[in-house]
Amino acid sequence: MNLSQDILIVGGGIIGLSLAVELKLRGASVTVISENFQQAAARAAAGMLAPQAEQIPPSPMLDFCLESRALYPAWIEKLEAITGLPTGYWPSGIIAPVCEGEAYEKPESSGLNSQWLDKDAIRQHQIGLGEKVIGGWWYPEDGQVDNRALFQALQSAIKELQIEIVRERAIELIRQGNKIFGVETEAEKIQADRYVLATGAWSEKLLDIPICPRKGQMLSVSVPKNYPVTQPLQTVLFGKGIYIVPRQDGRIIIGATSENVGFQEGNTPAGMQSLLAGAIKLYPELQNYPVQEFWWGFRPATPDELPILGASAWENLTLATGHYRNGILLAPVTAKLLGDLILTGKSDPLLAAFNYSRFPSAGLTQLQSQLN
Ligand code: GLY
Repeated sequence: MNLSQDILIVGGGIIGLSLAVELKLRGASVTVISENFQQAAARAAAGMLAPQAEQIPPSPMLDFCLESRALYPAWIEKLEAITGLPTGYWPSGIIAPVCEGEAYEKPESSGLNSQWLDKDAIRQHQIGLGEKVIGGWWYPEDGQVDNRALFQALQSAIKELQIEIVRERAIELIRQGNKIFGVETEAEKIQADRYVLATGAWSEKLLDIPICPRKGQMLSVSVPKNYPVTQPLQTVLFGKGIYIVPRQDGRIIIGATSENVGFQEGNTPAGMQSLLAGAIKLYPELQNYPVQEFWWGFRPATPDELPILGASAWENLTLATGHYRNGILLAPVTAKLLGDLILTGKSDPLLAAFNYSRFPSAGLTQLQSQLN
């Protein structure tokens, strides 16, 4: 297949699909290669939009995350208009409860909107908190989106916009000189004018780039059918090593472990136990709610836990990977700024901190061996 003058995005996760939609809406011709949408980290996330609750210190990363959070309402409106599908975007605010014995220093990003709630005030925000909760930080501008609904909306937007999806596994980026010449799949070789690598935790399989999987186990419960309200939790609770994310339809997502175990699949008793214990401590009533589902996913982690975005060692290859814990949050800003970069050649200053060249060996060893 020859897609000359076109853009080929390798990877159909939230980042690949968001960028495909952005590029297509701006007039580009785009194809996405993705063997299996079920693998995407986006399905496994909880959908928190939480630059403040995640305690990202003042840095280019925080600026990048805040910019994306600010883009969210308009981005969601656009997607919902294209597809007619809801995404469960809910700027609900996030409470970061602090339990007895835990530190509660003021968040470093103190210029931002946040408020300390003492033991009584936090219970006025959210009734039913566990007795060990002694207070917490309130981040009114953080929020959430239903990541699975969002992913479905993106897939539907891809259809509506007639973006081609090649359902094959990319097995090699074929290099020639300082360019990518094509992508080898199990079935064929696909060529394009420009390529984007958006393969998340699997990026290292295609390019010499320091990304490894960081597994997260999760589970969900639902508010019992006979309960007087559909959803008693009206905000996300983001504790130490545990978060509880209510959906407006009565589901409650509980996450997540953070494990360096490669691509080891499955939920473990230890993982489930730690999540359940943490969640019940924050919101004891959960212990009586019916369990709905257990699952896991793989976050794409880089050594400094920041994404790798923009130029690569190959002239016609753009990198859009390594979003680690923040792929859902960072989808709109990544799509917008990489869309600008690919279509106009302009690199927004916000991208500077995420260049691959901060890792001296990234992509270079293969390029050097090609050139020698
Ligand atoms: N964004 C939360 C997580 O990755 O667990």
